Amino acid sequence: MSDAPQPIGVFDSGVGGLSVLREIRALLPSEELLYVADSGHAPYGDKPVPQVQARAERIIGFLLAQQVRAVVVACNTVTGLSIQALRQQFPQLPLVAIEPAVKPAVAATRSGTVGVLATHNTVRSPGLARLIAAHAGPVRVLAQACPGWVEMVERGELDGAASRAAVSACLEPLLAQGADVLVLGCTHYPFLRPLIEQRAGPGVLVLDPAAAVARELQRRLPRPAALTATATGTTHFWSSGDCAHAAGLIARLWGEPVRASALPV
Ligand code: SIN
Repeated sequence: MSDAPQPIGVFDSGVGGLSVLREIRALLPSEELLYVADSGHAPYGDKPVPQVQARAERIIGFLLAQQVRAVVVACNTVTGLSIQALRQQFPQLPLVAIEPAVKPAVAATRSGTVGVLATHNTVRSPGLARLIAAHAGPVRVLAQACPGWVEMVERGELDGAASRAAVSACLEPLLAQGADVLVLGCTHYPFLRPLIEQRAGPGVLVLDPAAAVARELQRRLPRPAALTATATGTTHFWSSGDCAHAAGLIARLWGEPVRASALPV
């Protein structure tokens, strides 16, 4: 086996997966990370299932061609719709997937009602149904689709009257039914967290599973980081959308200037 550094691949329908990437970077500072933002095909949340799965397959194929040794699916929609099929298709590859934090939410609720904020496709997905069946017990788990939120984040609209109104409209039904824990079931939503927390108020706990995904990746990495890490821990970005827009938005969310290359698939 070669000792050449092998990177870790991370992808999402767009910039949302950066909320997972920052946790991975914090936990694994010396790893080389490759991030694919499929912004040219975002949002995945309303697309037909075969189309979402086909995009995921192409992106994983691209990351494998870059010699990655693990891939993180930083997109709840892909996990909910297709993770089993993807694992069958890429059996040799550790595929670490994000999914809504239903189990910790059920453990944390005092009111007995929790809300899951997600895309239409995640709300309807077999993956979320499985999670609720496995963990809800007597707790009521309300899944709320949040139309337009992914697009707002992709446009960089993280504040302002229109974003506040869109966030309020989706939270209201959950709060009215007594939800005291809200699960961020889409990786774009952590970038709206200040608005969500403001509207929900201090009595409501907001859960983001991104840090747990980073820890799961660390556990499942096929080779210890010490053997494969680069000294500098570089991060490379690809986008299937407008690369200049992507670079600007990624820099803002990531906190440092970046270059985004055109995704060739
Ligand atoms: C989307 O592209 O609609 C959302 C991605 C996600 O579920 O994290």
